[in-house]
Amino acid sequence: MTDLIRTHTCGQLRIKDAGSEVVLSGWVDTRRDHGGVIFIDLRDRYGKSQIVFNPEYNTEAHEKASSLRSEYVIAVKGKVSERPEGMTNPDLDTGEIELFVYELAILNTSETTPFEITSNTEVSTELRLKYRYLDLRRTVMQKNMMFRHKICQVARRYFDRKEFVDIETPFLTKSTPEGARDYLVPSRINKGQFYALPQSPQLFKQLLMVSGMDRYYQIVKCFRDEDLRAQRQPEFTQLDLEMSFVNEDDIITIIEGLMVEIFREIQGKELHAPFKRLSYRDAMNLYGCDAPDLRFGMTIKDITDIAEKSEFKVFHSIARSGGQVRGINATGCAKFSRKEIDGLTSFVNQFGAKGLAWFKVDDSGLTSQITKFFSSELQCDIKERFNAVSGDLLLFVADTESVVSQSLSQLRINIGKQIGLINDEEFNFTWVIDFPLLAYNEEAGRYDSLHHPFTSPHQEDLTILEERTLDVRARAYDLVLNGIELGGGSIRIHRPDVQKRIFSLLNIDDVTAQKRFGFLLEALKYGAPPHGGIALGLDRMVTILLGLDDIREVIAFPKTQKATCLMVDAPSEVDDNQLKELGLSLRKPD
Ligand code: AMO
Ligand code: AMP
Repeated sequence: MTDLIRTHTCGQLRIKDAGSEVVLSGWVDTRRDHGGVIFIDLRDRYGKSQIVFNPEYNTEAHEKASSLRSEYVIAVKGKVSERPEGMTNPDLDTGEIELFVYELAILNTSETTPFEITSNTEVSTELRLKYRYLDLRRTVMQKNMMFRHKICQVARRYFDRKEFVDIETPFLTKSTPEGARDYLVPSRINKGQFYALPQSPQLFKQLLMVSGMDRYYQIVKCFRDEDLRAQRQPEFTQLDLEMSFVNEDDIITIIEGLMVEIFREIQGKELHAPFKRLSYRDAMNLYGCDAPDLRFGMTIKDITDIAEKSEFKVFHSIARSGGQVRGINATGCAKFSRKEIDGLTSFVNQFGAKGLAWFKVDDSGLTSQITKFFSSELQCDIKERFNAVSGDLLLFVADTESVVSQSLSQLRINIGKQIGLINDEEFNFTWVIDFPLLAYNEEAGRYDSLHHPFTSPHQEDLTILEERTLDVRARAYDLVLNGIELGGGSIRIHRPDVQKRIFSLLNIDDVTAQKRFGFLLEALKYGAPPHGGIALGLDRMVTILLGLDDIREVIAFPKTQKATCLMVDAPSEVDDNQLKELGLSLRKPD
């Protein structure tokens, strides 16, 4: 053991400290030998300081320093001195001083790390996740973690000031349907029975409103067993809130206030609230998705009426059989080669499109291998609909509404990126509102909630709930930032009779409703106040604000795309004894 206890951090010393005796500790970052003098950059969370072992200054410390290697943990005592002229380092906060060491304690050695902590060389994701504690030692990851921490602190202060109460809700609970599969936990004490980890605290926060807590918030883990993509993790964090006696505008205003405060305090930027609001219908029509990126235009236009009159068989047959023909104007892209257009065709094929029809616009009109199927009048109509000018490229997909929307929304982003229409510095917030309450699930032959089953329909739509179900609007809102769904919420159903009608449309019969949500239906009978709320995906928010695109960069210990943790090796097999205690036996997977 050493009695060297640090007096300062590695990012703290400045020129005013010159002459004082200090103790620093940290990790050996880099080491340089110069004519018998050893220079080391010592690193900790706060920064780096240059420390110097000079044999003329202290022979013993210098001798010991020759064994130092990268990532050794050391403590050093020495004197702060001003760096000689021309030797200062403007890249370091501590760049004007160095520490002349006369006592060195090696607190721990380190084997050669599987990747360098200091350098910026690419390291495979697998290696980073396996040695996550080393990955987190890298400055960039420490910055990400600190940034996330700060956002949470701003949020906590904000909610506290607005009189929200931070209340924890259970993890060992019953299924809370949010559209994913549940993670189940077997009960030892109640053999054959399972808890479900919450997909969100949805029902508990509603029950807290029944309790009269009025304003609740929580920064909380949620668990969803779903197919993982770049923006999804099996366990992730929500900034979750619920309020009583409110309407949509109250919730929207609270969240806008939060975002303004986060941007002001963390980014030093003034956001303009209120944010834009876009109806679900407009979002789908103009952008082909419910989370559009509004940093650029290139909106989708419908030409089904024109296509119907053309001689192009694919177009008119689809137009006449209830399908759609829609397209976008890739402005200035007539210069794309056949190969590039073939590339775009393969791109939309991934989303179910059977082809990608195109026209290049020049002074004489439209050119393409399919121009011959369009009268000059129809060609004019197409040009007009897109406000197309010479040099533009018009791209079309003909199919069902869902295939057309999906293909074109992805194609729009792809081309927008490719031709540099997206400003990476911009943060574009939009509320998407007026979602339909339910969508018809052809496969299952029943309705599904677009949000969750506890979302309230518009009061005036209650009369058409069973007759014109698909026209019923939800009192729901999603917050979209740069084309990513940041959060979603709704005003809830607070009357048991309405909740029962929704369950019945979802094909949840009385017995099942009672079994799964009996406690909620019961609670709604005892003076449940009108209430509503929202949850923001914290991981997604931090990722976007940092200008990153993988949420794993802002989660300390994330899972792989296959939902495994490479560091602790989870999930893993368990002892037979544990299974026996739980009353479980395993069958070999097929
Ligand atoms: P929702 O299911 O829309 O709403 O979730 C809210 C937000 O959580 C984030 N999110 C995720 N982030 C990372 N990985 C995931 N697997 C993941 N799934 C969701 C998204 C999403 O917008 N109880 C309701 C909210 C409410 O109605 O108040 C809910 O959970 O950013
Ligand atoms: P074809 O008649 O198959 O030679 O196709 C002529 C052009 O129409 C090609 O550019 C195809 O990519 C395109 N095309 C074919 N099917 C569709 C479709 N469903 N939607 C849009 N374009 C299509």
